[in-house]
Amino acid sequence: MALGSGVRRRQSVWGRTMWGGLAVGVLAFAAVGSALSAPPSSASAGMSRAEVRRQVEGLTALGRAMFLDPALSASGKLACSSCHAPDHGFGPPNALPVQMGGGDMAQPGGRAVPSLTYLQDVPPFTEHFFDSEDDSDESVDNGPTGGLTWDGRVDRGADQAAIPLLSAFEMGNATPDEVVTHALAAGYGDPLRRIYGDAILADRPALYAGILKAFEVYEQDAASFYPYTSKYDAFLAGQATLTPQEARGLDLFNDPAKGNCAECHISQRGNDGTPPQFTDAGMIAIGIPRNAEIPANADPAYFDLGVCGPLRTDLANHPEYCGLFRTPSLRNVALRQTFFHNGAIHSLREAVAFYVTRETDPGRWYPRNPDGSLRKYDDLPPQYQANINLDPPFDRHPGDAPALTDAEIDDVVAFMKTLTDGYDPHS
Ligand code: HEC
Ligand code: HEC
Repeated sequence: MALGSGVRRRQSVWGRTMWGGLAVGVLAFAAVGSALSAPPSSASAGMSRAEVRRQVEGLTALGRAMFLDPALSASGKLACSSCHAPDHGFGPPNALPVQMGGGDMAQPGGRAVPSLTYLQDVPPFTEHFFDSEDDSDESVDNGPTGGLTWDGRVDRGADQAAIPLLSAFEMGNATPDEVVTHALAAGYGDPLRRIYGDAILADRPALYAGILKAFEVYEQDAASFYPYTSKYDAFLAGQATLTPQEARGLDLFNDPAKGNCAECHISQRGNDGTPPQFTDAGMIAIGIPRNAEIPANADPAYFDLGVCGPLRTDLANHPEYCGLFRTPSLRNVALRQTFFHNGAIHSLREAVAFYVTRETDPGRWYPRNPDGSLRKYDDLPPQYQANINLDPPFDRHPGDAPALTDAEIDDVVAFMKTLTDGYDPHS
């Protein structure tokens, strides 16, 4: 088994989490750090560990309840879970490239809904990521890495939660105060008071901050968001055997001369034994075809350029970041029906086929101009196309054999299906 082959450069980022610099395994304390920095809690100073634990449990339960509750949206119809469905790895429950939202539930989004599983180790966004794993070269700058959303524009779960709550095409609240009004009307005043103390009920900005914090703490609930219960985890623990096809798929996934997937989607344990995340959180341009099904793309002048904008605004003067999106974890990816930041691809098999034929048969993926010439990389203006990644399996040319045969693509797909949580080794 070629476990580990093909893994180079980027490694996982154990020990640095966006939730306050604490490693996995000390979940309760990571959450505690967050809870303590929460809004005016008369209780935050001098709390006993038991009190802190109770506060974390309270925030987790509150975050979970609100996550499932459409009452926090302007329409009263859209919950976080409407887009991030728990039984789909907290990804989209349908094959739509983008979801509908807003006060009238008729406003289309601009990006595919990412899974919310295995975000606990995504480091805060940095333009220069240096790896601290023992066997990697710490002097190598891996470039822009980390942060939440496809472009890494926020670091904390609380800041992230504000985006959908206030987005005109998602939950549609006009102001933070409207979020508070909806939350109080839905009965969340009482849990907020029990968690933060009576005084919070008279402090609307603090109530809003407390609501956001509850989402952040809930998203750190290991049993829900990073349970490590896939067949691959059981395999790594010696409690399951891969089928011959899955094992071939793993080898192809790792092999630098074949899929080379593990270069970015890390498949081996960290040096401290922690299970692989199947991402290095790196920002990479892979040239996904433009998706005409996204209404914003009806305007030929509109481009979602990822790290350089337009949703992200702080790096707009960095043309070298245009087209870059954060590498997602492939854990639970088989529960999705729409893939990549713009949802242009609708099956796992097509996703793998894209990697191995983007360069060998670009006409399969990109449209033609009226004069018959190919509009390769059609979702990235020509001046940014030098940003597109050419590492294997993208290191080929038209007419070359793809890095994977059709049968090998099936093998890689079979392997990725072992990354779905909820496997029962005794079934
Ligand atoms: C209308 C669909 C929709 C709703 C409702 C929604 N989200 Fe999202 N969510 C998205 C999309 C789309 C993205 C990617 C946004 C981007 O990249 O700009 C996202 C991104 C995220 C991320 C970052 C994931 C990552 O990979 O970095 C988190 C965390 C998240 N949402 C949590 C929530 C929470 C909490 C709520 C409820 C308060 C919520 N979402 C409601 C569609 C939705
Ligand atoms: C050079 C880094 C890199 C390599 C190598 C790589 N990927 Fe990716 N992968 C990414 C990035 C970046 C994205 C998101 C790109 C986007 O949406 O624009 C992604 C997205 C995906 C997705 C979509 C996941 C989702 O949630 O929508 C799948 C599936 C996937 N990769 C599978 C693979 C497989 C299989 C291989 C090997 C054949 C592979 N990747 C090789 C960087 C890489």
